[in-house]
Amino acid sequence: MKWRGVVAVLLLAASMPLAVAQSDLKRPSSTDQYIPRLGDIMSAALSQHQKLWLAGKAQNWQLAAYELGQLESSLAEAAMQYSGIPVSNVTTLKDPLQSVSDAIAAKDGRKFAKALGDLTEGCNSCHSSMNRSFIAIRVPTGREPFANQMFPPQRKP
Ligand code: HEC
Repeated sequence: MKWRGVVAVLLLAASMPLAVAQSDLKRPSSTDQYIPRLGDIMSAALSQHQKLWLAGKAQNWQLAAYELGQLESSLAEAAMQYSGIPVSNVTTLKDPLQSVSDAIAAKDGRKFAKALGDLTEGCNSCHSSMNRSFIAIRVPTGREPFANQMFPPQRKP
């Protein structure tokens, strides 16, 4: 009986149209919404940070602008949902984020590289200020996963 119900649900799902309207991607406004764990938001930020770099290196400025938007949303979400994060730690990222955005608009690879370096320092200064200097981010060294995180023990700041 129970399994029949499961099968019915699966069939129903299969019959639904695959195309999802853009508006369906908006976060539901119910109060009991799912709140991602901070580590999950940060894991997304790590991958967005790397993709941002790879897109900029490849001079795909449209993709770079998109990944920058995704990264900004992750950082904003972290600050909004987790009040334990000092706001000043988020606002210090404002300037580097703006510089990355300006470099993308100007399609300037050198400015982009410099701005991404500054942004990466911003990631680390928040981590150290929150006793997490062992989470050390770097400018990606390649495209393999986690090429923008350092795994050997870090010196204490
Ligand atoms: C305003 C503070 C702040 C900023 C800015 C920040 N982080 Fe974090 N990050 C944290 C905190 C706090 C944790 C630890 C979360 C925990 O303990 O669950 C963390 C954890 C992480 C982790 C570990 C996730 C895991 O579970 O493995 C990664 C990776 C990470 N951050 C990447 C980044 C990157 C990349 C940036 C910059 C683009 C960044 N963070 C900017 C506060 C910050």
